[in-house]
Amino acid sequence: MVKWARARFQPNLPLYGEKRVTACKEHIEISKKASEEGMVLLKNEKEVLPLKKGTKVVLFGKGTFDYVKGGGGSGDVYCEYVRNIYDGLKLLEGAVEIYEPVAKYYKDFVDGKYQTGSAPGMMEEAAFPADMLKGAKEYSDTAIITISRFSGEGWDRSAIEWNGEYNPWESETSMPKTAGKIFPDGDFYLTKTEKELIDKVCDNFARVVVVLNIGGIIDTSFIKNDDRIESAIYMGQAGMEGGLALAEILTGEVTPSGHLTDTYAASLDDYPSTANFHESFDYVDYTEDIYVGYRYFETIPGAKEKVVYPFGYGLSYTQFKYEDVSFKEKDGVIMIELKVTNTGKYAGKDVVSVYTGAPQGLLRKPARELKAFAKTDLLSPGESQQVSLAVRISDMASYDDLGKIAKSAYVLEKGAYSFYIGSNVRDAIKADYEYTVSKDTVVLQLTSKCAPTSIKKRLLSDGTYEELPMGELNDKNACIFEKMEPGTEEAIIPAVRQKSRAFMMNPYKGHPLMDVVEGKITMDEFVAQLDIDELIHLVGGQPNKGVGNTFGFGNLEEWGIPTVMTEDGPAGVRLSWECGIPTTAWPTSTLIASTWNTDLAYEIGRAGGEELKENNLQIWLTPAVNIHRSPMCGRNFEYYSEDPVLAGKFGAAAVRGIQSNKVAASVKHFAVNNKETNRKHCDSRLSERALREIYLKVFEIIVKEADPWTIMSSYNVINGHRASENRELLEGILRDEWHFNGMVTSDWWTRGEHYKEILAGNDIKMPTGFTERTQKAYDMGAITRQDLERCVKRILGLMIKLD
Ligand code: BGC
Repeated sequence: MVKWARARFQPNLPLYGEKRVTACKEHIEISKKASEEGMVLLKNEKEVLPLKKGTKVVLFGKGTFDYVKGGGGSGDVYCEYVRNIYDGLKLLEGAVEIYEPVAKYYKDFVDGKYQTGSAPGMMEEAAFPADMLKGAKEYSDTAIITISRFSGEGWDRSAIEWNGEYNPWESETSMPKTAGKIFPDGDFYLTKTEKELIDKVCDNFARVVVVLNIGGIIDTSFIKNDDRIESAIYMGQAGMEGGLALAEILTGEVTPSGHLTDTYAASLDDYPSTANFHESFDYVDYTEDIYVGYRYFETIPGAKEKVVYPFGYGLSYTQFKYEDVSFKEKDGVIMIELKVTNTGKYAGKDVVSVYTGAPQGLLRKPARELKAFAKTDLLSPGESQQVSLAVRISDMASYDDLGKIAKSAYVLEKGAYSFYIGSNVRDAIKADYEYTVSKDTVVLQLTSKCAPTSIKKRLLSDGTYEELPMGELNDKNACIFEKMEPGTEEAIIPAVRQKSRAFMMNPYKGHPLMDVVEGKITMDEFVAQLDIDELIHLVGGQPNKGVGNTFGFGNLEEWGIPTVMTEDGPAGVRLSWECGIPTTAWPTSTLIASTWNTDLAYEIGRAGGEELKENNLQIWLTPAVNIHRSPMCGRNFEYYSEDPVLAGKFGAAAVRGIQSNKVAASVKHFAVNNKETNRKHCDSRLSERALREIYLKVFEIIVKEADPWTIMSSYNVINGHRASENRELLEGILRDEWHFNGMVTSDWWTRGEHYKEILAGNDIKMPTGFTERTQKAYDMGAITRQDLERCVKRILGLMIKLD
């Protein structure tokens, strides 16, 4: 096929050969494999798991059938089937026997709820089937209880409802209300009926297994503290094959090897982000600063005890030992080698992580920071593998935003840096090696960018707070002409342009874009041919084409510029169900990262990218990589982790996989987009240090390691400036410091003013530009031809990279 043929002609052809790859067996198998590797064994006392062949089980909880494959909104996907827990166990013929009367009770309950409009996960637990207890107990002493949860885009996990602005989708605001009714104390906690269910089952069955079909963190203390619960598995939200993947783990066909990507504490109040999460609709103060997730729990005095399951936690059916650990320093990198041996009875995989501990110094630091990790191959009992990990010395530096040593620089403070090896942050063992820095060293001098103006204080490692300097507040709504009424820009879709008859006779007005591809003219020469109207046209989104539903850009055929289409992720290629093309539903990103196996993220990216391309789409709006700052963020399921290194490495692998197809990954949402309530106005107020060490770090890793062709700026405001209008962020940090050379798109229907976005280096406004307003800004001299050309060159530069 010639370049851009899929974009231009939408051919109805498989990607390779005769068979389509979209939702093919191989892809669905990858989805299942990733789900299996991500699931985390939380508890396994008395070795109840794996269940022996033919074990009789009673399945309790509506979650047995009300399985949640992923979250809602743009991170959802339409697929051909979804396997729940019951289906999965049934499919493994002869593996277990199920007590059908109780199963039928739950199935009927869930079917009834779905018929009356309940979404998966959004229904109360069914009353305990007391009249079936006798029969169930006679059948077996083994019970499996499944608890499920759902969350989605546009709302957070609490009963708070935002009604303060125009919203074209009424259903968006009703979700918090619905959730509030089902989970009166918030869905972080078990409901009264769930507690009763667990209690009754535990009182009546000798062997109880709990399965957590959840997208974000919940209170797991009931598992840890209740001796009547022998075993528990974090299943996550595991895509279309979740039930089968779980069944293979429960029955020992697969040994669990997943590890948590977040810290699980018993109460929402244990997380420092909770106190002011809903303090205001207009802003969130990130007063916990860099102490996010385990950086908080492992460092701040008194916080350790609050942890139920630490970051990186996960059991196996087998055991591993580490030997021959060696450290070598060369060219600014510390190489760590060790031998991992499977010393147990089952074949399994292990995760080896390296955490560092830096001297407290003047800057103060977290007690532990993840720097590198690796997953072993599947090791048979007795088998060993040599594992190598690399830690760059400069990556142990801290950002000095207030100039305690060197202002706006990454500094390695003098002292001894320790190393801890293990799979979870709590149990990692201190190595017999230290790296000593003899004097404070600046490893990278930068300049102050995106400085806060309105956050008063931040947490320090000893649990005290220090004051932050205040500054002058930026007016985020400033505009050289009347600002559009909030909401009036919402859901406007781009117009289809009329073309003159001349186009049919003589399509090109001059050199077409293909001449740039073929090296006949330069990009500068090409763009110089376009008039202002055409440049303004190109900086805005364009109508849908083919099966896509999130709009495209380009669409200037008189210059040989095709329309290239975007489509959502990360759950899959999210085509509308109406077009009748099911795609592969992957596990949620959190579960993918729980594998700690970046090869799987690459594989999912590669396979998903193939599905995108086969359906004649070019830009996959994924991976989503925001940090799990608070368990309450409704979109955490779409994101990887509380840790920027883990999230960064997974994001980078996903981007490499996607782009290996010559389609683009759009890494989102840049940046500090950690709350859904009032997401288009809410100001994330934080220090430069937290911004750089936590929230930007994940994007920095991806840009530097995987060269994404596009990045999506976020809706929210950062220290007074909307992300899409933030020049210091998009030009200063992203381009000048990190050398990103791709295109920046806005998120869909931002509240940013188009001309200000152009000036900030946000190249395209999606899904539509505001042509008349941009023209007016041009006429008033607020933007120049040069500003428009800069954006257009990046937009076309991206197109040229596409197949
Ligand atoms: C979401 C993005 C998504 C876009 C297009 C926005 O509401 O925040 O993640 O890619 O819509 O659907």
